[in-house]
Amino acid sequence: MVKFENKKPTNVEIGKRIDKKESTIRAFKKNHPEKIEQLELEHKEATYPFLNIKEYLQAINLDEPLSEKDLLNEIITLSQRIEKKELPGTIYIDGNKFKHIFIPAIIDRLEGIKDFMNDIKIQLPITISIGNHKGGAIKTTNTTNIAASLAYFGYKVLIVDFDPQGNASGSFGIYEGDYKYTIVDLLTMSADKDIEHKVKESVININMDNTFENGITGKLDILANNATMSEQVEDLPSMTRHIGTIENTLDRVLSYIKNDYDFILIDLPPRTDVILRTSMIASDYFLVSLNTQPFAKMGMPNILNPINKYKHVYKQEKNKDFIILGGIVACHESGVSIQDANYNQMKEDILTCTDNKTSLFDTYIPKASVIPESQQGDGAVIFNSPTSKITRKYFDLTLEILERLAIEKDMENNKGLN
Ligand SMILES: Nc1ncnc2c1ncn2[C@@H]1O[C@H](COP(=O)(O)OP(=O)(O)OP(=O)(O)O)[C@@H](O)[C@H]1O
Ligand SMILES: [Mg+2]
Repeated sequence: MVKFENKKPTNVEIGKRIDKKESTIRAFKKNHPEKIEQLELEHKEATYPFLNIKEYLQAINLDEPLSEKDLLNEIITLSQRIEKKELPGTIYIDGNKFKHIFIPAIIDRLEGIKDFMNDIKIQLPITISIGNHKGGAIKTTNTTNIAASLAYFGYKVLIVDFDPQGNASGSFGIYEGDYKYTIVDLLTMSADKDIEHKVKESVININMDNTFENGITGKLDILANNATMSEQVEDLPSMTRHIGTIENTLDRVLSYIKNDYDFILIDLPPRTDVILRTSMIASDYFLVSLNTQPFAKMGMPNILNPINKYKHVYKQEKNKDFIILGGIVACHESGVSIQDANYNQMKEDILTCTDNKTSLFDTYIPKASVIPESQQGDGAVIFNSPTSKITRKYFDLTLEILERLAIEKDMENNKGLN
C-alpha cells in the first residue's frame, strides 16, 4: 500500500494561485471585484482532492485576509478538529519535524450537505445497489470508490460483494481464507439460530490507517465473495427454499448488522435475475453504472425494465417506493466522438426510461490508469493515489450522491404537507 507520507499532497498550483490571489486582492479589491470572484471560482473548481489548511483558510477569507495570528489560531482549531476525527483530513508528518494537515478541497460543500442531512433528519443506514445487466459497466469500481470516499467523509460503510466473480473483495486483496463465510453462504444459513453471530464474524474491516495518518474518520468493511459462488448462485433458489423466498434473504442477513453502518453499498453482478431482485429488496436506492466505451453501447430499457417490473413487489413488501437515484458514467474519454455520442444518448435515455425522474450525475469519471493500478490490492484510488484527480472526481460524485439522497428525502418529508 502506498503511504500518504511519500506523496506530499501540496497543491502547488493552487498554492501559487492563492499567493497570486493575495497580491491581486490587495491591488484589485476595490476596482475589480469581478476578478476576485473569478479567482474564487477557479479555486472552487480546482481538480485537486486535498488542500493544505493554510491555503484553504487564505482562500475562504479572500474578502478580509486573516492576520498571521488569526490564521495560526484557525489552523490550530481546524487541526484539532481533524485530530479528533470531527473533520475529514490528513496529517502528513515529515520526519518528526513538520506536521502538515490537509483537508479535502470539497470541505465546504461536504459540511454543507452534512448540515442539510441533519436538518431534514435523514435516517441512516441507507442501502444502495449498484448495477447494470451488462458486464464491465464499472459497477465494482464505482462501488469500491464511492464506499471509500464515504468512509473518508466520516461515514461507516459496508460493501456487500454480491458478485460471483468476487472482484470487489479481490481488489482489496481479500480472498478465500480471509473470511469465515461468503455472503452467499450467509444467505443459505439465514434461518440458522446463530446467524447473527455468523454474519458478524464474516465482516472484514478494511484498515485505512496505513494510508492516512489519523485521516479517516469513518470505517470501511466488506462482506466478501469468491468465484465459487457462481455455481452456488444457480442453486440459490433451491438452497434457500426451506427459508422462504430467496428475495428476502439478503435483507434478513443485513438486518443483523445494519445498525453498525451509515451506508451499505451492494456490488451487483451483471445479471437481471433473482440476484437483482434479492438485492432490490435489501436496498433503498439503485445506482445505474454506465460506461461509454465503443462496445458498451447499452440499451437503457434492458437495464431499467427488470427493475421497473419488480417495483410493485418492492412496494408491497417494503411499503415505500424503490428509487433509481441516478446514472454514473465512468471510464469515459471526453473528446472521443463515439464515446461522446454514447454519453449524450445515455443522458437522454435515462430521462426517457424513468419519466424524467432520474438523470446522469453531472460528475463523470474519466478513463485513467490509476484505476486498474489501484485494484491490485488497494481497492480504491484514494488508497493508492490519494492526490490523483480521480480521487477528486470520486469525491465530487459521492457528494452529488449525498445531495440527491438528501433532496429525495426532503421531498418525501414534504409530500404529506402539500
Ligand atoms: N476510470 C477508469 N479508467 C480505466 N479503467 C477503468 C476505469 N474504471 C474501471 N476501469 C476498468 O474497467 C474494467 C471493468 O470495471 P469493473 O470491474 O468495475 O466493471 P464491472 O461492471 O464491475 O464488471 P463486471 O460486470 O465484470 O462485474 C476493470 O478492469 C477496471 O479496472
Ligand atoms: Mg463487477
